[in-house]
Amino acid sequence: MTEITGHTRVWAILADPIHHVKTPQALNALMRKRGVDGVLIPIHVGADDLSGLVSGLRTMRNLGGLIVTVPHKTAMVALCDEVSPAARAIGAVNTVRREADGRLVGEMLDGAGFVAGLRQAGIEPKGRSAYLAGAGGAANAIAFALAEAGVSRLTVANRTRSKCEDLAQRLAEAYPGFAVEIGSPDPSGHEIVVNATSLGLRENDPLPLDADRLTPDQIVAEIIMQPETTALLAAAKERGCRTHPGGPMLACQLELMADFTEMRP
Ligand code: ATR
Repeated sequence: MTEITGHTRVWAILADPIHHVKTPQALNALMRKRGVDGVLIPIHVGADDLSGLVSGLRTMRNLGGLIVTVPHKTAMVALCDEVSPAARAIGAVNTVRREADGRLVGEMLDGAGFVAGLRQAGIEPKGRSAYLAGAGGAANAIAFALAEAGVSRLTVANRTRSKCEDLAQRLAEAYPGFAVEIGSPDPSGHEIVVNATSLGLRENDPLPLDADRLTPDQIVAEIIMQPETTALLAAAKERGCRTHPGGPMLACQLELMADFTEMRP
């Protein structure tokens, strides 16, 4: 896009706070790469005003879609006309497409972005056992995406056990027969080990799992992007594990967001 004209379609990211978001730069660059006559703008909206904003945006005929982030991912589910079964079970939506008739269709792509990042690095989750640390928003999305990708079994471990139980129950309902267990901080016996907690963002954070139990045959993956080598990844490298950083999850998700909201020339 060289200029915004009357033909330009509009996408938006909804967040509060918004100043830190990097999605506008990333998706505008992707649109230019794809030759899309479109622009993605930041919209700073508080939780109380989300519903009013979305009903207005729904009437906007040149709206391509919405990217939804903190703190609106949960509230957005009820504001969509249709959401995918996984997004409903996860209870969160981060990407919304506006159809020609104004219907809003929501999807949760955090987990799919993670799995796409693994695959891009040549790590195929299908048929492999997985251990997931965390049961919050990001962990929920990744758990469903790993189940969808066909891991042979999944162990979920979290400080607050009730959140694991809740997640395991929703997974079992969505994927009947899927082998999901609640685990301890010990990740041994799993081929892919994933940190989906927020531990690792801060320098003095404790490790999200017992890294002394890691073995060289394991792949250890992160969702934390900054720092690129978290304390967990450093410990995993030291123990001879293959590691996978947090960055690819976002990079791959941008493509999925663009595809889902039909960012096409
Ligand atoms: P996000 O949307 O980034 O996933 P979240 O939903 O708040 O954020 O989830 C944060 C995750 O990190 C949770 O699994 C949380 O554990 P609890 O469910 O017990 O809160 C985990 N986490 C954060 N700080 C932690 C800490 N100090 N020790 C252990 N787990 C922690």
